[in-house]
Amino acid sequence: MGGCLWLHTLLWSLTASSIPLIPRSLDDLSTQLLQSKWEMNGNRLCKLCDATSTSCNGEHGCDSKCMVTTSCEYPEEVCAAIWRKNNGTITIETRCHDPKLELYGHKLDDFNSDRCVMKKKESPGETLYMCSCLEEECNSQLLFSDVTDTHHTVSQERTLHKPSTGEILFDSKGEISTKQSMPDGRIILHALCKFCDEEQTTCRTETECKSNCTITSICEKPGEVCAAIWRKNDANITLETICHDPRLELYGHMLYDYNSSKCVMREKKMIGETIYMCSCKEEECNNVIFFTEETETNIDWKNDFPKVVLISLLPPIGIAIAVIFSFYCYRVHRKNKISKKWEKDTKCTRHPNMDCSDACAIMMDDDRSDISSTCANNLNHNTELLPIELDILVGKGRFAEVYKAKLKQNTSEQFETVAVKIFPYEEYASWKMEKDIFSDINLKHENVLQFLTAEERKTDVGKQYWLITAFHCNGNLQEYLAKHIISWEDLWKLGGSLSRGVAHLHSDHTPCGRPKTPIVHRDLKSSNILVKNDLTCCLCDFGLSIWLDPSLSVDDLANSGQVGTARYMAPEVLESRINLENVESFKQTDVYSMALVLWEITSRCNAIGDVKDYEPPFGTKVREHPCVESMKDNVLRDRGRPEISNSWLSHQGIQLVCETITECWDHDPEARLTSQCVAERFNEMEHLDRLSERSCSEEKIPEDCSEDTTI
Ligand code: ADE
Repeated sequence: MGGCLWLHTLLWSLTASSIPLIPRSLDDLSTQLLQSKWEMNGNRLCKLCDATSTSCNGEHGCDSKCMVTTSCEYPEEVCAAIWRKNNGTITIETRCHDPKLELYGHKLDDFNSDRCVMKKKESPGETLYMCSCLEEECNSQLLFSDVTDTHHTVSQERTLHKPSTGEILFDSKGEISTKQSMPDGRIILHALCKFCDEEQTTCRTETECKSNCTITSICEKPGEVCAAIWRKNDANITLETICHDPRLELYGHMLYDYNSSKCVMREKKMIGETIYMCSCKEEECNNVIFFTEETETNIDWKNDFPKVVLISLLPPIGIAIAVIFSFYCYRVHRKNKISKKWEKDTKCTRHPNMDCSDACAIMMDDDRSDISSTCANNLNHNTELLPIELDILVGKGRFAEVYKAKLKQNTSEQFETVAVKIFPYEEYASWKMEKDIFSDINLKHENVLQFLTAEERKTDVGKQYWLITAFHCNGNLQEYLAKHIISWEDLWKLGGSLSRGVAHLHSDHTPCGRPKTPIVHRDLKSSNILVKNDLTCCLCDFGLSIWLDPSLSVDDLANSGQVGTARYMAPEVLESRINLENVESFKQTDVYSMALVLWEITSRCNAIGDVKDYEPPFGTKVREHPCVESMKDNVLRDRGRPEISNSWLSHQGIQLVCETITECWDHDPEARLTSQCVAERFNEMEHLDRLSERSCSEEKIPEDCSEDTTI
């Protein structure tokens, strides 16, 4: 969780360090953004776009639609805009401009203006308008002079805008009319709006209310809409109703909601007072004002666009951060869990040969009492590769090499020792097979090699496939027996644990009673069995294993072929005559191989008198790697089996072991004992040593790898 904390701290400090940047409102944010823009060089901010086609025909004010804002290069520069009409094509260009200089052959003398008011310029073959202005980004909105003049009148001398009797239009019936017939026959519509100076009101922002304005005015200019302004300052609350040309600013703000049928108030930023404004198109629509939640129609798209984008982006960004953070925490937590779990299963040993002294070997506890760990397999679904450093090569098989390796801990220099089985790119199928078997949650058992995870790695020598498992410094059973003479107790432990491992594989239920698909190993031999520190066995190398799935057809089983190591192959496998109708036949072949391994173990027990040098089953009778044909001669033609000398039968326990072995390598597969039965027999043998005349325990070889008995 350390990493988790770290990320949390990082996020917190990021947040904290950005506190001064976090706006209390989106207005603050845009102010800050502008401020930061100004901070670039302190010069003016202007729109900067090359001449771009526009539909703005010069009759009304228009938006330059320029998305680029620049901080002008020189402090004396002002914002400017150029509108041209040439062969029917209209363009707008926006830029910074030094008013002391000419722009397209024209001096701009309006640069002291706060708005960009277009002035016609002489230019042969085209219509040219230009403007310049001082305010920030003032060349974004272009005003054409005829309209702008009116605006000045309106905004500066608004009271003049009040209708005089002469301005009221009457229709043919003598009623007030909003239509004005022009001499050229056109009919121009004028809006009908409430028109009252600022008056005290009881209207509050939570409510909708009537203006109480008794004056209805036909708006002076076509295109004008109704508007209302609600203000609150320390002294009082007022409401003002007017006609307004939406192309122009009202108290420094553009109103973009003028197409609305209702006057829905929006707050505008003003220093020292709260001000709300609305505009609308329907007749006298500014008579009732609404303070509702902001609706989409209320959004001032021009000013609010960045805010809207920001607001809409905040939730997904927040969710994304939360997801990434949770995923990270999950990963760290999982990794720690794996390490902890493995730590729990760790037993530290010292071994002069295998250099066990430098680390705790990851092993399954020999005296585990934890049911859950017996019933569940470790599967790491993480995509991130484990921090592993390869150490020495400890084994080489048909498809892969096995390395001792260091699994680094997150936080410290500490590490745990693991085994890494590395399959080259070409052996993907073997890796996949073994990985799939290991991934069977029901495989986990104290007498099955503990699996950590499978990985695909890209290395300098190409793609590799890894299986990461517990490391056992005693190595495999063949190596162990070659180096050690064992006592009866060791025999009993090694043999019993081997049979329990095989019985677990073959079983259709877990030790906890959960249903399980039986597995057959199909390559049982002493080099595929590892010796744990407590001198119990664990099975490994499941590259040829299969599940005895009841749904497997005879064809499926037939296709699985003659597999395994010739020396350990049962007679029916050697002659490819397995009874495919009965899945038990596959278990029976495993039992035969197990019998040969039990013989190997027994052959090294000092309870039977003189112990010969280690020899594999059929030792010198065949070559080191005998072929199937030579094994057929021995096992099928001659019905040969490894020798059990009479001296072995003098020990009660060993006698029983030998009887068991004989029953397990019976030529008739059906006559063989089941692995379950062998395991039970070993259980019953526990005390047979005491009954025997000669006790091996006196000559007991220490169990720990630290004291090596090499022969
Ligand atoms: N040889 C093959 N697998 C091994 C393991 N997991 N530990 C030690 N030696 C091995």
